Amino acid sequence: MCGIIGYCSKNGKASQVIFEDLKRMEYRGYDSSGVAMISDGKLLVKKGVGKLEEVNRKYKLDKIPGSVGIGHTRWATHGGVTQINTHPHCDCRNEIAVIHNGIVDNYQELRKDLIKRKHRFLSETDTEVIPHMLEDEMKRGRSLEEAVMAVAPRLEGSYAFLAISTNEPGKVVGTRKGSPLVVGLGKNKAFAASDSMALAGQIDQLYMMGEGEIAVLTADKTVFFDSTGRPISKKATKPDAVWNDNNKEGYEYFMLKEIMEQPDTLLAATHQDKDVFTAVALDVLRADQIIVTACGSSRYAALVGRYLFSSVGKKFCEVVMASEFQYFAESVSRNTLVLAISQSGETLDVIDGVELARKAGARIVSIINRPQSLLGELSHNVLYLNCGPEIGVAATKSFLNQLAIFYLLAFSMVHSFDMAVDNIRKVSRQVARAIDWNNDVIAGITKEYHDKNDFYYIARGINFAIASEGALKLKEISYIHAEGMPAGELKHGTLSLIEEGTPVLVICPGDFTYKETLGNAIEAKARGARIIAVSDVNNEVYDHWIRIPRVHDLLYPMVSVVPLQLLAYHMATRRGRNPDMPRNLAKSVTVR
Ligand code: G6P
Repeated sequence: MCGIIGYCSKNGKASQVIFEDLKRMEYRGYDSSGVAMISDGKLLVKKGVGKLEEVNRKYKLDKIPGSVGIGHTRWATHGGVTQINTHPHCDCRNEIAVIHNGIVDNYQELRKDLIKRKHRFLSETDTEVIPHMLEDEMKRGRSLEEAVMAVAPRLEGSYAFLAISTNEPGKVVGTRKGSPLVVGLGKNKAFAASDSMALAGQIDQLYMMGEGEIAVLTADKTVFFDSTGRPISKKATKPDAVWNDNNKEGYEYFMLKEIMEQPDTLLAATHQDKDVFTAVALDVLRADQIIVTACGSSRYAALVGRYLFSSVGKKFCEVVMASEFQYFAESVSRNTLVLAISQSGETLDVIDGVELARKAGARIVSIINRPQSLLGELSHNVLYLNCGPEIGVAATKSFLNQLAIFYLLAFSMVHSFDMAVDNIRKVSRQVARAIDWNNDVIAGITKEYHDKNDFYYIARGINFAIASEGALKLKEISYIHAEGMPAGELKHGTLSLIEEGTPVLVICPGDFTYKETLGNAIEAKARGARIIAVSDVNNEVYDHWIRIPRVHDLLYPMVSVVPLQLLAYHMATRRGRNPDMPRNLAKSVTVR
């Protein structure tokens, strides 16, 4: 949430680079953006509301002169989406500029105190306290890094922030607590950014910033300090080449590209180390209790995983929404295995829960897509999705690969990893067929339903979470109200909402859930519902049949979710929405 970038170079064209890097982080927030540069000893700040390209057209962010600067793409938390609230924020004298990702929880007290001491505030943001606090410290004769070291411990909450000052024009100083920050170095250039993907192809060395650490960047030299101000030497990692690939490859939107590449990315999910899976499967089998924690789509993948663990490994696990995890902390002990699922490895709710669980002595295993993540650092073991960068805010290929990882793990519990790999490879061809058969059909279906206000998605057993995931996709990108639920629950309340013409999506594969789910579809139809069925078996009750290939019962979620992604995509584009950047949302949610 919010992308921050700092860049030190020697070539006077830093703002172009900052702008390009911001583009790669736009998935983190896109309601407004801005850049601050130091040019001829002066601070130049340009910022505006709207998507980055629009702001750039208006304010020419990429043409601000200077060799050193910072840039920000915002997902508003404190203060509305206005130009004044857009980062960077400055001190009273316009000498210091700051960009920030996170929330300064105690900003109200800090702000009152600063106002008493005659600081002038322009915005409603929590962030603006930081440049004013730095100003006070620098007035006392401190350098920019000394000022950052003095200010950071007084900020409560989570933050990653970068600061520049006209008093020290060649420098960017950054620190973090709770929110992510990496430092990347190339020849005569240094970067600090919210994620390494922003720096793709530009650096040779990557450093993950630890809690409270401070980085002081110049074009020639970058130094690190711990939270007490002691210099530290950090180990560099090599940036991962795969993560350089982030273009749309001719598709209009990243989401469509990411849906279409799923047959291949699913194959990549099987490129795993069998020994690691065997070890994690043993952890699962040995644990007294297993708690799976995740948010959004990752949690729905976990719900499918719960069925797989139960039916294959005969092991029950509880899936807890990450934002609710803390309220169950008393039940976590040394014999608990916490399985944390997160595409980004950054979601703060997940990180919070994992930190609590670690304190209680639990073992932590994570399923993550992004390399070099905070969650990865906190985990005893990590299983990777291997699906490459996912840029569309709505999860698609990462969800499918999460299902694949759960499948591999469940079969590793019964020593059948190799068979599971074979099955997923076969199903990847069925995913390709599900796309081929349905892309046009679904675009056609949306013609009839794009002006509906409510959709209901129903399914049973292992398929129920796919109903929830389908509904989530529809609401997040097309802004249509949608609910997913176990088909058997419909009669316990929601059925009263069904009237003539209400669309009901029924995920009804020819498996052990078929008969009962079909029965629920017939009940809905009797009350006027229009039935759109995702199934390998046609039935006269369906108003529309979205055909999926026949696969083994436990593999249906992998083929049935794909048409639901396409339905959400086509619905969003037909309604004129940008599916890659749905309003009010962001991909990496680094606030509570
Ligand atoms: C956000 C995204 C969702 C995603 C969720 C969890 O809400 O919009 O698409 O499922 O975060 O993200 P994670 O990176 O933890 O899987």
